[in-house]
Amino acid sequence: MTANSRRYHITTFGCQMNKADSERMAGILEGMGFEFTEDPNDANLVLYNTCTIRDNAEQKVYSYLGRQARRKHEQADLTLVVAGCVAQQEGEALLRRVPELDLVMGPQHANRLADLLEQVFAGNQVVATEPIHIMEDITKPRRDSQVSAWVNVIYGCNERCTYCVVPNVRGVEQSRSPEAIRNEIVELGRQGYKEVTLLGQNIDAYGRDLPGVTPEGRHLHTLTDLLRCVHDVPGIERIRFATSHPRYFTDRLIAACAELPKVCEHFHIPFQSGDNHILKAMARGYTHEKYRRIIHHIRQSMPHAGISADAIVGFPGETEAQFQNTLDLVDEIGFDLLNTAAYSPRPGTPAALWEQQLSDEVKADRLQRLNHLVSIKAAERSQRYLGRIEEVLVEEQNPKDATQMMGRTRGNRITFFAGASELKGQIVKVKITEARAFSLTGHLVEAKLPVSV
Ligand code: SAH
Ligand code: SF4
Ligand code: F3S
Repeated sequence: MTANSRRYHITTFGCQMNKADSERMAGILEGMGFEFTEDPNDANLVLYNTCTIRDNAEQKVYSYLGRQARRKHEQADLTLVVAGCVAQQEGEALLRRVPELDLVMGPQHANRLADLLEQVFAGNQVVATEPIHIMEDITKPRRDSQVSAWVNVIYGCNERCTYCVVPNVRGVEQSRSPEAIRNEIVELGRQGYKEVTLLGQNIDAYGRDLPGVTPEGRHLHTLTDLLRCVHDVPGIERIRFATSHPRYFTDRLIAACAELPKVCEHFHIPFQSGDNHILKAMARGYTHEKYRRIIHHIRQSMPHAGISADAIVGFPGETEAQFQNTLDLVDEIGFDLLNTAAYSPRPGTPAALWEQQLSDEVKADRLQRLNHLVSIKAAERSQRYLGRIEEVLVEEQNPKDATQMMGRTRGNRITFFAGASELKGQIVKVKITEARAFSLTGHLVEAKLPVSV
């Protein structure tokens, strides 16, 4: 096999961290001379970057893997890699389950893909799941978008939410240095990117593990300081961050977001449940009153802010009245977007062992009722955009209508408008004429380029 006949395929499951890791792994593979192919059946190297947050996410991985494992019996030069959170959770057990695998690698090892593959190409079956200090990424990621980029700022999670596998699979918090983050963003600005999203499972924890304290006893490096540190990077016009944890969300951060023009008015702050007993059992470390206060403060200083969150229904022991408290919170706050999920017991988490697990029927019923309310509220929230002129960063063509472009408002609402693809990467002004629950339509009122609409 010659170097240029080597083709790789990556399928990514799960969250933005996995997407960011996949982009870095794709960059490493291209550095090794591999070329990307959409079709896994056409690839010599297939990598599944996996998610185990809920049981259905994990099962999906096994069905994909099974197909490639069978293909390996006909195509001996196929290299099969499982990366990400299922890899970390299952480790060697995955090799017993799928002996055709060449490499099982946890998320902390993503930047080491080249070294690990070298061992594979030398004839070894490799498992890399031991906890390590994450090496600074020196590769060039192959990013999906040319407009908006993910930038990891903190890996791992030190929380112990009783339902969640993430700390087990992503390891302890490791913050990247502000210099490394800034350098990456400066390079993105040079390459023409307009927007960055700073990523962490618990981004409010940024900097806690870095050395230094201020005279007032605060950590020297916090998310607020980081936003200030990267704010003046030339070319970058928008800065976002996710995911925020209500336990650590500060007024200082709200003030910085209101003050810094590039920081977009969008907050993703999962609340998980609107009931204090359930929040306690989840070990979330806040009450619904505190959560409401945070949203109130955000709306006081940024009335148009987009607010999104995650919530779980059917946590062990959740009564109908406790679930009603979640509905009440959603009704009162009116999220722009809410990711909802039925509780799924996960291996190695405390809540999975508790009695009082709810039946699938109860969970499905609550999920459906919550989703119904969510779309009603999101449609109501969307109305505030009608007639307004919004700044939209143009990302790509509308995949369903080639005469339209698609972008996002500062509040993160997806927006469609008639326009040509030269507008990609520009911030344009769009007058909103139609508002649906989760997207908007409008027409262009101002752009830098002459446009044919
Ligand atoms: N770090 C983020 C979320 C990470 S996981 C936070 O603290 O909010 C993404 C979402 O998946 C969570 O917000 C939660 O709503 C959901 N989730 C996590 N574990 C789950 C489980 N066992 N069952 C159902 N949903 C779960
Ligand atoms: Fe999971 Fe909680 Fe950490 Fe979020 S904060 S990743 S829910 S343990
Ligand atoms: Fe899934 Fe791992 Fe993200 S479990 S949600 S891919 S951190």
